[in-house]
Amino acid sequence: MNKEKIGHGQASGKIILMGEHSVVYGEPAIAIPFQETFISTKVEPDSTMILDCHYYSGALSEVPPQLKSVKEVINQALIELHQKNMTFKITITSTIPAERGMGSSAAVAVSIVRALFDYFEVPCSPETLLHLVNRAEKIAHGNPSGIDAAATSGNEPLFFIKNHPLESFPMNVSNAFLIVADTGIKGQTRAAVSDVAHLFEQNKKEISQHITELGRLTKLAKQAISKDDVHTLGNVMNQAHDQLKSLTVSNDQLDQLVITAREHGAIGAKLTGGGRGGCMIALAESKEQAVKIAAALKSAGAFATWIQSLGVKK
Ligand code: MEV
Repeated sequence: MNKEKIGHGQASGKIILMGEHSVVYGEPAIAIPFQETFISTKVEPDSTMILDCHYYSGALSEVPPQLKSVKEVINQALIELHQKNMTFKITITSTIPAERGMGSSAAVAVSIVRALFDYFEVPCSPETLLHLVNRAEKIAHGNPSGIDAAATSGNEPLFFIKNHPLESFPMNVSNAFLIVADTGIKGQTRAAVSDVAHLFEQNKKEISQHITELGRLTKLAKQAISKDDVHTLGNVMNQAHDQLKSLTVSNDQLDQLVITAREHGAIGAKLTGGGRGGCMIALAESKEQAVKIAAALKSAGAFATWIQSLGVKK
């Protein structure tokens, strides 16, 4: 056992700008890296397999059910590396809010795979990384579209369509800032995705109209971004929130933060990710306005807020 050797892996969270839930049904979605957050994994040899993260520290074989996907990704990565008998201490540190629809579970998996491949000095192809992370995401989320795995394993904005080759696309906006606000309530992506599926089975006509509309709004958002038209982008974000409400994936806290952001000058606001808690996003035209909106969201009960520049031209 080489006691000196250490492997490192990193990933950031993701923000779904447009298209959550409808993306599960084949409509497009836009995801961007959540640059304000960061996850880091360290692997070092140990006599048994140990996991150390802020919500669990102990034997990997005894992780609680919500960490089953972590166990899976570690085991699968070691099989892929032909090292399934090796044992490590795996330490994860993260600033991504967990279970808030910001891609924490996918980012954990990405950083673990990167750290294990780094330890063995084996290059990890984007295909292998995606394959391993998607496998773990199926355990974490049931029937994911794959957007979280794709967004957290790359480092650029994506125009994502399920089962299609990944399409990166530039955030061509000159002056726009996103405020991310956490309701402080655990988002229930798995339950929300499964409830939408039940609604779809019960009322295909109405639910597929909402899904198609979300797809149309996402395409409009893409156009708006490529024309540097933040007002249209804000407008379609507002409309998307209403559609997501109709799919029953919002809740009172998210709706309240969305209203507060709009009242304080946001040009668009919506929930982001799985919903039913988790986070919302708001769009502002200047940093000063973003700071004001973030303060208003805090006063209205947001547990935490972040401000991120949207786009490449700052
Ligand atoms: C979760 O970040 C996004 C959802 O659309 C689920 C998925 O696409 O797997 C709600």
